[in-house]
Amino acid sequence: MTSQAAGRGTPRRVAVIGAGYVGLPTAATLASFGHRVVLAERDPVRLSTLRAGRVPIVEAGLEELVSRGVAAGALSFTESAVTAVDGAEFVFLCVPTPQSADGSADLSYVEGTAKEIASHLQQGAIVVNKSTVPVGSATMVEQVVGRPDISVVSNPEFLREGTAVHDSLNPDRIVVGADNPQAAARVGELFASTSAPLIVTDATTSETIKYASNAFLATKLSFVNALAGLCEEVGADARDVLLGLGYDKRIGFEFLRPGPGWGGSCLPKDTRALLHIASEAGYDFSLLAGAIASNDEQLARVVSKVELACGGSVVGCTVAAWGLTFKANTDDRRYSPSLQVVHRLVEQGATVQAYDPTVGAADDDTDPPEDLRGLVLRGDPYEAAAGARALVVLTEWEEFRWLDFSRLLAVMAEPSVVDARNLLDPAALRRMGFRYTGIGRR
Ligand code: UGA
Repeated sequence: MTSQAAGRGTPRRVAVIGAGYVGLPTAATLASFGHRVVLAERDPVRLSTLRAGRVPIVEAGLEELVSRGVAAGALSFTESAVTAVDGAEFVFLCVPTPQSADGSADLSYVEGTAKEIASHLQQGAIVVNKSTVPVGSATMVEQVVGRPDISVVSNPEFLREGTAVHDSLNPDRIVVGADNPQAAARVGELFASTSAPLIVTDATTSETIKYASNAFLATKLSFVNALAGLCEEVGADARDVLLGLGYDKRIGFEFLRPGPGWGGSCLPKDTRALLHIASEAGYDFSLLAGAIASNDEQLARVVSKVELACGGSVVGCTVAAWGLTFKANTDDRRYSPSLQVVHRLVEQGATVQAYDPTVGAADDDTDPPEDLRGLVLRGDPYEAAAGARALVVLTEWEEFRWLDFSRLLAVMAEPSVVDARNLLDPAALRRMGFRYTGIGRR
């Protein structure tokens, strides 16, 4: 069932459990819609950051939205999920659902939180699954809570990191699913201040919509990256080919940028989880398996481009890498294709000097985070490029476009650039004497 949400809804008492990339924007957005929100975060460092008026993640506009909520008395923080749910009519579960070894989603945080709050929920409260959870999880949470007066509603999140505030305030759609349609409709009303279409459905369908959305985006990107590879072979320009595709309204321009492969904490995890769900159900989702395999090929293609730029092998070569996060405008490096490329280069014998605007230079007194071990971390892009045989641009940070390329030319050992995001201007670089390789681009 689809309807158009309209007008400002009645203010409600809401608890949000988990102040991560989903929970924090969700809590701040619900507070900005006029609801009274208590956000529970059990990590003491995160909690004290929030209490000090700052946010623990890089996310445009989030600090302002959180501050406005706090100043209006609509948003407050606690370390205890039990305290947060006291008096709450709606309880949003925004806890992590990491990937298990077999590709399925690990539901231990969801289950643990549901157990913890079960006996503290107020009569008739609605528990909302906001974390990305497998088909059947609403029923699982209902069973764990074990109270006939409590309904569980699936309300998947579609926000992107980096634009989380914009996406939460201006969603393309709101999806709510429950086996109790009244409960689903009540959750939909929380978002009445947005003009987004509201899809009210059953829990299984709602849970499937979330995975299907991310799997579709991943498949689209795998197609785009593979197409860019084909363009290189036949001598076509992928950027123009994709322009020609994008004007077709059925295809659209979004998610048409070739890159080093898709990553982040969602697309890789959710595609593998959907594949796992399919195989458990006895369904051969070979198309999705192909999209995942194709993404790995894309990482390998970028590594090969760097090898070629270094004369055929990276053994003993210094390679500069710009960008380590999985995309620009976030500090998130989970399942980052950029990191996967640099670690493969290190494995093959390169010394990688890396720079990312969200990562500081190496510091003699502190060990680097585990995912950055083996890299030489530099504090600016020129230092990273000093003495390098090749530079690979891996994350599309805007600042990389506007650097002093004559200075870059002067510091590099060889003027070779592999632009895995098609971010730079090949003609301008070639005029200056650089050798340039993009993705699907002459
Ligand atoms: C993704 C979805 O886009 C959101 O709708 C969803 O809510 C979220 O996962 C989630 O499940 O929580 P996000 O992980 O923030 O959001 O990242 P995306 O913006 O989707 O980018 C994913 C990857 O695709 C990145 O590595 C990015 O660099 C790459 N990408 C994206 C491209 O290579 N080209 C493009 O044109 C777009």
